Amino acid sequence: MLNRSLSERAGMFVFNPHPSYNDDDMKIVTEIAELRVARNALAGSVGLVPTMGYLHAGHLSLVEHAKVENDHVIATIYVNPTQFEPDADLDSYPRDLERDFALLRDAGVDIVWTPNDAVMYPEGFQTWVDVTDISQPLEGGHRPGHFKGVTTIVTKLFNATTPDRAYFGQKDAQQVAVIKRMVRDLNMPLAVIACPLVRDTDGVALSSRNAYLTPEQRTAAPILGHSLCSAIDKLANGERDANALRTHMLTTLASEPLTNTEYVSVSHPDTLQELETVTDAALLSMAVRIGKTRLIDNMVWRAEH
Ligand code: PAJ
Repeated sequence: MLNRSLSERAGMFVFNPHPSYNDDDMKIVTEIAELRVARNALAGSVGLVPTMGYLHAGHLSLVEHAKVENDHVIATIYVNPTQFEPDADLDSYPRDLERDFALLRDAGVDIVWTPNDAVMYPEGFQTWVDVTDISQPLEGGHRPGHFKGVTTIVTKLFNATTPDRAYFGQKDAQQVAVIKRMVRDLNMPLAVIACPLVRDTDGVALSSRNAYLTPEQRTAAPILGHSLCSAIDKLANGERDANALRTHMLTTLASEPLTNTEYVSVSHPDTLQELETVTDAALLSMAVRIGKTRLIDNMVWRAEH
């Protein structure tokens, strides 16, 4: 199934002249009322996979994890405007709903919810969920207001779909930490499951934003993964000075002329506080611009006991 080309799968979705309405078919809903009817018809456990669409194998790995651990899977596709900074790439964010639907149907998803702005931000909207401290460093420091947008929309997705488990990628390490904090703080009745970061064959972290890269820029992108790997090697060889690791990552990134580094970080994976000395564990993370495209990547190191 998964070996069929994307265009074939998208074509099957678009050109199917006899849509079937049997109960095994994936339901595609927009309005909250429709979603609730479809959700309430699901018996057993439900896993939720929130996305902004333009799906790749990283997103689909979350669906696979959700399929294994739950009776049913709901996926959502919504490009959430409030998590984009004013001059960011909201309008140009890549979209291809037909292809996404075909991929999710093949992956065995039960319901896809594609709310629109009117559903998510009704007129007069003024209620926000803000996780304070852990949203501040790293991505939060460079994208003011980003996590407030994420936690608000994710709360709305949780409220509407009432999942037993929700699946997020370690690609966005801080997002996972912030959402776990929110779920604990607000006693939300679900488990947050973090799934491993999926990379391309050349080590580049899969991202919808990779679609912006020119072929030349794409050949420069593996430098992020290389710099993280070589810092992990240093840790494995006993380096514990966080500044030495930061310098090493910066130097490696600078060896690729197309990169423009926004930050590199060596923080604690739970608190996200910058470390002076690495002890039990470290989250190595970075944001790097290649041309206009902003890429993020990370790796976690843990001491062997
Ligand atoms: P989006 O960037 O579409 O990502 C959806 C989910 O897929 C996130 O949990 C993200 O971490 C995961 N993901 C993306 N690339 C991945 C990769 N290479 N390997 C593993 N997982 C990967 O993250 C968002 O959307 C939004 O902030 C959202 C949570 C949907 C709220 O709007």
